[in-house]
Amino acid sequence: MPDTLEVLKGELERFGAANDAGTSDRPRRMLNITRDTGEFLSVLVRAMAARRVLEIGTSNGYSTLWLAEAARAVGGSVTTVELSEYKIGLAAENFARSGLSSFIRQVQDDAGRVLRESEDGAYDLVFLDSERPEYPGWWSDLRRVLRPGGLLVVDNATSHVEDMAPFVALVEADADFSTSLVPIGNGEYLAVKAFS
Ligand SMILES: C[S@@+](CC[C@H](N)C(=O)[O-])C[C@H]1O[C@@H](n2cnc3c(N)ncnc32)[C@H](O)[C@@H]1O
Repeated sequence: MPDTLEVLKGELERFGAANDAGTSDRPRRMLNITRDTGEFLSVLVRAMAARRVLEIGTSNGYSTLWLAEAARAVGGSVTTVELSEYKIGLAAENFARSGLSSFIRQVQDDAGRVLRESEDGAYDLVFLDSERPEYPGWWSDLRRVLRPGGLLVVDNATSHVEDMAPFVALVEADADFSTSLVPIGNGEYLAVKAFS
């Protein structure tokens, strides 16, 4: 019997907070989104009926659970990309416990390569929560893999304004995207692609 999703989320919130307070070694930190960000992502997926969701930066899968729960509700699924073998393992255990495994495809690879190899318009919603200096180099593929009307959501837009600035400048200069900065959690930067 899978653990109740709410129990698992609460457990992961406590684990993430205690783990990250106890280490400054970045590869060992979980760096999870906040609960209110999870709720926000869930609303976005459901409001858009986003059936094809891509997450870049799985960590131990806390944010994936929010996305997958919502994707399941609209008949969709989540592809989530992570480089770290350690975190892929933690996430796989959490997904098995959640009962959501069949709505999640885990990819262990570099997100840049996954984006390059994805088809045009492959995703309704992309959640970007990875290494911020990489984002400008990923932009041309990010914009390409979103379908017309597709939504990009980027975490840490208010917690790491300087890191995000080069990427935000690229998106703001792109006439095909309308943007909004939402002060939830660590700040969510939203960019929606024009329909035509
Ligand atoms: C901020 S954490 C993700 C947190 C997760 N979204 C959550 O809220 O539970 C960023 C993750 O991106 C992964 N990462 C870093 N560079 C990557 C890359 N080039 N491709 C794929 N994953 C990468 C890191 O290993 C790390 O686990």
